[in-house]
Amino acid sequence: MDLPKISPQKICFFDSGIGGLNLLYEAACKLPEAQLLYFADNFKVPYGSLSDEELSAAVDGIFAEIANTNPTAAVIACNTVTARYAEVLRGKYSFPIVGIQPAVKEAVKLGGKCVVFATPATAKSESLTKLVKTYGNDLTEVVACPDFASFVEQNIFNLDEAELVRLLPDLKADTVVLGCTHYIFVKDIVEKKYGCPVFTGCEGTVKRLLRLLGVNDAPISAPRSQNITFIGGDKEKNSRVFFNVICGL
Ligand code: DGL
Repeated sequence: MDLPKISPQKICFFDSGIGGLNLLYEAACKLPEAQLLYFADNFKVPYGSLSDEELSAAVDGIFAEIANTNPTAAVIACNTVTARYAEVLRGKYSFPIVGIQPAVKEAVKLGGKCVVFATPATAKSESLTKLVKTYGNDLTEVVACPDFASFVEQNIFNLDEAELVRLLPDLKADTVVLGCTHYIFVKDIVEKKYGCPVFTGCEGTVKRLLRLLGVNDAPISAPRSQNITFIGGDKEKNSRVFFNVICGL
């Protein structure tokens, strides 16, 4: 007797460019059976510098494509889009939408001065102001890093540590929160420069996604290439960054 075929869960990830691949990796390790689609818009990076009109036009176009795939859920792997547009998207679509956010809550638990690095758009967003008010303390500071995401996007195969250190602001911190998924590629350099723990929103976002899908926080396994499709933007670059830079294959 043929058993009925259970269709795999289909999860669509979206970022302006390569940054969200870090979140895709964390999720792929926990969801080996799911079908994962990665949507990007590399030629428009940095999203952090787009006007509200430009951002909504770009994101609306991509979310129309995501909706056409009939996803189980979508994940906004871009802090800038979560901060500026997640609520609008949730009002438009019936599938669940999870959005990455800076891990202020987790960082502040360690005490001391927490510095949040973000794109200019995220830094001045109402959403981050609210998040810091809710979970931050009196010492929490948000710092906009105008050129950082573009630098990482353009130089990912040849990142120059000295140049990256020069682009990072000189300040003292007890914890740093990376409020842009592009910054995750240089987490080690940030850790070295400030000499303190550095947080990303990946872990919390993947936890929320797993809870939503009713999946246990399963043990880590290596991502399987056959389950991941790259759509939009520079597909070849995104695939190379994912498998070569992140997975180290
Ligand atoms: N990766 C995106 C984020 O998390 C932003 C990069 C950009 O500005 O395009 O905010």
